[in-house]
Amino acid sequence: DKITLSIIKADVGSIAGHHMPHPDQLAAATKILAEAKQKDIIIDFYVTHVGDDIQLIMTHRKGVDHPDIHGLAWEAFKSATKVAKELKLYAAGQDLLSEAFSGNVRGMGPGVAELEMEEREAEPVITFHADKTEPGAFNMPIYRIFADPFNTAGLVIDPKMHDGFIFEVYDVFEGRSVLMKTPEESYDVLALIGTPGRYIVRRVYRKSDNLLAAVVSVERLNLTAGRYVGKDDPVAIVRAQHGLPAVGEVLEPFSFPHLVAGWMRGSHHGPLMPVPMRYAKVTRFDGPPRIIALGWNISKGRLIGPVDLFDDVAFDETRRLAEMIAEYMRRHGPFMPHRLGPEEMEYTTLPSVLEKLKDRFVKTEEVKVVKKHSDLLSH
Ligand code: 13P
Ligand code: 13P
Ligand code: MG
Ligand code: MG
Ligand code: MG
Ligand code: MG
Repeated sequence: DKITLSIIKADVGSIAGHHMPHPDQLAAATKILAEAKQKDIIIDFYVTHVGDDIQLIMTHRKGVDHPDIHGLAWEAFKSATKVAKELKLYAAGQDLLSEAFSGNVRGMGPGVAELEMEEREAEPVITFHADKTEPGAFNMPIYRIFADPFNTAGLVIDPKMHDGFIFEVYDVFEGRSVLMKTPEESYDVLALIGTPGRYIVRRVYRKSDNLLAAVVSVERLNLTAGRYVGKDDPVAIVRAQHGLPAVGEVLEPFSFPHLVAGWMRGSHHGPLMPVPMRYAKVTRFDGPPRIIALGWNISKGRLIGPVDLFDDVAFDETRRLAEMIAEYMRRHGPFMPHRLGPEEMEYTTLPSVLEKLKDRFVKTEEVKVVKKHSDLLSH
């Protein structure tokens, strides 16, 4: 029978800003999931956080998008929100955009990545959890893992991978997906996913047998809410080894701290810094954006692990480079390309600033030289 690995995550409040949840929130969510495990609704679970986002990692036999599992996650987040309200934490219930649960958390604020699998003889899986960025942050690493032979030696060496992979690319504005083959259509894939705010790699399948190898959460809160509610702080699931990229090939793209959208007020570009769980909190300018990687084996639905994969000196230089890039980007203050472009600023103050100024914009020829400040203030 098939096992489903479901990660459902949400930010429901944080201590001292958008930094990290309170341990009592994690305990509240854990209690709900422990009870569900007792009742055999789920097989196994693990609760953690990255930055201010609570991560519910669950295994079960109900398949993807199941109301019991989504309802359970909703209940856990509600319970953690209650704690946040009691403690007067910041932004209590932030990502829960609706009061009432209606069968599925998709479109209600939480991020979701679910992967249904036939367990292989050994089932190594890596789950990635990021804060202060958006789902498109996974585009470059996922591409490198499954389509770049300079990253993944197995694409060249392993006969099971040699045919390549199929990418499902999701257009977040249109709510539509397209399936594309690599390596044949690599340049077309890149033409799309190089716009990570719109086109997101959502799923990757192995071409030789259509095995589902990776899933990325694609929810975009601001598009859902129609207003600024922070970034979507994405998650991803990647299966590894035995005809799939090796764990080291899956981690390798994260040795380059590429620029992603997010960081302070969800409105800035900054480097994605891979960190161990103990550093999965965001401080400098509410960042820089961070990602953790948890290694698991799944055994009849049991979650064996996690191992904290970025807790390795091998990523020290990446972190040092990320700090240098953070410093360099910060020096730009409110200027692009540190600050995001206008199309991404739609849900911030920028529209209201433009609205306020709209009567003061005049054709260049009509501009009179302003002699005194009072002329300007009289508007
Ligand atoms: P082992 O021989 O240790 O299993 O290594 C295989 C592999 O995939 C290394 O990348
Ligand atoms: P989050 O999406 O992590 O809550 O970030 C919000 C924010 O404004 C950070 O500066
Ligand atoms: Mg927050
Ligand atoms: Mg967050
Ligand atoms: Mg967020
Ligand atoms: Mg070995």
